[in-house]
Amino acid sequence: MKKLWEGRFQGKTHKFIEEYTESISFDHRLYREDIEGSIAHCQMLMKQGIISEEEGKKIIDGLHQVMEDIKKNGIDIDPSYEDIHTYIENKLREKIGDLAGKLHTARSRNDQIVLDVKLYLRKEAKNLIDLMENLQYTIIKQAEKEINTILPGFTHLQHAQPVSLAFHLLAYYFMFERDIERIKDFVKRLNENPLGSCALAGTTLPIDRFYTSKLLGFKKPTENAMDTVSSRDFIIEILAILSIIMVNLSRFCEELVLWSSPEFDFVNLPDTVCTGSSIMPQKKNPDVAELTRGKTGRVIGDLVAVLVTLKGLPLSYNRDLQEDKEPLFDAIDTTKNAIKAISIALEGASFNRERMKEMCLVGFMEATDLADYLVKKGMPFREAHETVGKIVQYCIEKGKKLRDLEIGEYRRFSTLFGDDVYQYIDLEYMVDSRRSYGGTSRKLLKDQIEKIKKQKRWN
Ligand code: ARG
Repeated sequence: MKKLWEGRFQGKTHKFIEEYTESISFDHRLYREDIEGSIAHCQMLMKQGIISEEEGKKIIDGLHQVMEDIKKNGIDIDPSYEDIHTYIENKLREKIGDLAGKLHTARSRNDQIVLDVKLYLRKEAKNLIDLMENLQYTIIKQAEKEINTILPGFTHLQHAQPVSLAFHLLAYYFMFERDIERIKDFVKRLNENPLGSCALAGTTLPIDRFYTSKLLGFKKPTENAMDTVSSRDFIIEILAILSIIMVNLSRFCEELVLWSSPEFDFVNLPDTVCTGSSIMPQKKNPDVAELTRGKTGRVIGDLVAVLVTLKGLPLSYNRDLQEDKEPLFDAIDTTKNAIKAISIALEGASFNRERMKEMCLVGFMEATDLADYLVKKGMPFREAHETVGKIVQYCIEKGKKLRDLEIGEYRRFSTLFGDDVYQYIDLEYMVDSRRSYGGTSRKLLKDQIEKIKKQKRWN
């Protein structure tokens, strides 16, 4: 294989060093973007009269042929090609001869790789949003079914106040909605064309970067060629977003793991997403949730890898930057698979409504409602809090539940208690009376779900 830089060199690259420095084994997945970028570049060279129409047409035709060949036969991952850019130029030379050498006029692999990755990320951003919306859809479908299911809401993993299961599930809907917003924001900043930055300082040739921006669907060219070839903050940004998605997913997974334990027994994951044990015949393990929780560490690691690669790197292009791609691809693949897997698991999950309700009777979750009751009767909240605290203590000593106390027992602590108190500590009443904006009242949840379905056109 003829190297792109052979003119200045006398010695051949050491076989091991060739293998050590190659990137074709992972950047080959950018072939479509590389060819797409080359076609736009070539069209611009023609328009500017830097190459002739005839030459340009031959080059573009050759690039189309290379694309077809790769689609049909794949890519020969030989380290002597070094990277995908060199591979495609070589294949083009096989098709159209030395004219292929004109394609790289007014271009460097330094701007080319940034272009390829940006084009790749534009597609993947869309794929990610689609997957996230599919997960949100699954959440909404489950939430609709579980509006009337009441379970303990926890703080400090202790029983706090009863909530609708739909409310708990919708909490994740809104986390994922912010993740989607972050991806959309990222795409806005991604939308500047790096092509034509060349090696680091632009070019002496009369190129038109606005034209290639238009051809490739970018808003405009980047403003500073040195920044363009040096910076990878767009990669860090998407890796940070992917890390946040994984962390959000991981919290959901942790709840699935906890909830499927016999101690909780809140959820049943379908057999299709669980695995058994090779030794313990009774086991059914929530591996899909555990693995997603585990893979979160891996994606965070990908983010940290690129952050550390960039730290302390002088301008402009340095070969260190090649190390951005494996973490990026890994994080994209891992996150996409995780979103898909959790969507499948959630779709098949069934919730143990009776058990959830039963657990609402444990842990004195009526206490805040009792305090609010006294407040409504005129007692200052601090005093109400203390009064109910004493009642709870009384129940602990007597082995009683709040709802089982006689009215006489209540009145021993405050004469503000009347017969109407029992209605305030009814489970459904407690949920439905939390009507403050963003609260768990079932009426609010129904309206919220309708609003979401309308916004997302899910009817
Ligand atoms: N494989 C390189 C990378 O990923 C492409 C750019 C190479 N530029 C260079 N001067 N070797 O960063």
